[in-house]
Amino acid sequence: MDRIRIRGGRRLAGQIAIGGAKNAALPLMAASILADEPLTLTNTPALADIATLATLLEQLGVVVTRDGRTMKLDCARVTSTTAPYDLVRKMRASVLVLGPLVARERRARVSLPGGCAIGARPVDLHLKGLEAMGARIELAEGYVEALAPQGLRGAEIVFPFVSVGATENLLMAATLARGTTVLKNAAREPEVEDLAHCLVAMGARIEGIGGDRLTIHGVDRLAAATHAILPDRIETGTYAMAAAITGGDVELTGTRIGLLEATVASMRTAGITVEPTASGFRVRRDGPIQGTDVMTEPYPGFATDLQAQMMALLTVAEGASMITETIFENRFMHVPELRRMGANINLHGSSAMVRGVRRLTGAPVMATDLRASVSLVIAGLAAGGETVVNRVYHLDRGYERLEDKLAACGADIERLKDTA
Ligand code: EPZ
Repeated sequence: MDRIRIRGGRRLAGQIAIGGAKNAALPLMAASILADEPLTLTNTPALADIATLATLLEQLGVVVTRDGRTMKLDCARVTSTTAPYDLVRKMRASVLVLGPLVARERRARVSLPGGCAIGARPVDLHLKGLEAMGARIELAEGYVEALAPQGLRGAEIVFPFVSVGATENLLMAATLARGTTVLKNAAREPEVEDLAHCLVAMGARIEGIGGDRLTIHGVDRLAAATHAILPDRIETGTYAMAAAITGGDVELTGTRIGLLEATVASMRTAGITVEPTASGFRVRRDGPIQGTDVMTEPYPGFATDLQAQMMALLTVAEGASMITETIFENRFMHVPELRRMGANINLHGSSAMVRGVRRLTGAPVMATDLRASVSLVIAGLAAGGETVVNRVYHLDRGYERLEDKLAACGADIERLKDTA
């Protein structure tokens, strides 16, 4: 397995180009199932998770072709309605094919995703929503079987709490349902909005895009469309933290400050300068990092997918910070590893008290989740000596050419190829 070696202490300066959002690309790719004409996505990131979903879609009959950053997904005919265990096991987001398959084929059999490194993560809201739309749901042999022989029908669905995936799955399903569906307490994440805009380009009728109440009037069919995937706000925030921890000066291009206002507000409170530029924004730090409290929340609040990176930044702040995770019950796997690098962090249930230390020290580390792994890279950039991050495949799921982008700004970082 490849590893990443970092020799810390170098200041980052320069530009980093941000790619298309992984968490928008995945539902957008699944949306191709809804139409019998091709969906063309531009600004597609080259990531392991994207390749995993492409493989699953190919098994369902979608013809996937890539030309650089452009991906064409043509689902003239669905040839299978089963999403097998081996692929769903690799990536929970595979469950996003469920809504589109039931909507178009009136049936689907999707392996039930299990727990994952960041928590139990059930899919009950996805299933209850489909049931409300008239599907019969059965769980057998580890699979969810959804059957809607008469087709799906519109329904009013009130989410008891915000779920990005359930909103996306039901939004897609509702586009082809008979009648009107109303999704209340829907997720407002920019990736949900991006999906809705693409569905409209395909011919869907959706009102309330960007809000927490989505009204979808079902149509008979969706058609060909071309859609540019929005910039990855989590990749953006990750490099912003990386620049900040090194006392650097980096311009993030191809992205927008408006996608991560809560993050930018917290970074400013921590003493980081963030200024918009013509093609993105610039992150700079001259003075010390100040301890600051952060609580994760659904969008537009502080993203759970940036919690680990913010924690890495705050390990070397002046003063203490309280970091509270409200979205996932087990998203602190980076804490023991950061501690091994000299961080002073105490966990109290869903909160972490981080007392800033003067300096971190390099160590061999590893993590079992994408964002936890990248937080160790951020810590390594500021740590004295050498840090080796193991299990790099987690990073490859969500960060394209991470080591190249950081090295181009002056980081001493390289990938150690597994020669075994
Ligand atoms: C999406 O996951 C993202 N993944 C996650 O990013 C992100 O952390 C998460 O949203 C929250 O922002 C993709 O977009 C592919 P949820 P999702 O449904 O949709 C509970 C990353 O690092 N829940 O909003 O699976 C759930 O357990 C990843 O890129 C239920 O209880 O998240 C969690 O506690 C990791 N029942 C909370 O809701 C359900 O049916 C929010 O989860 C669905 C969710």
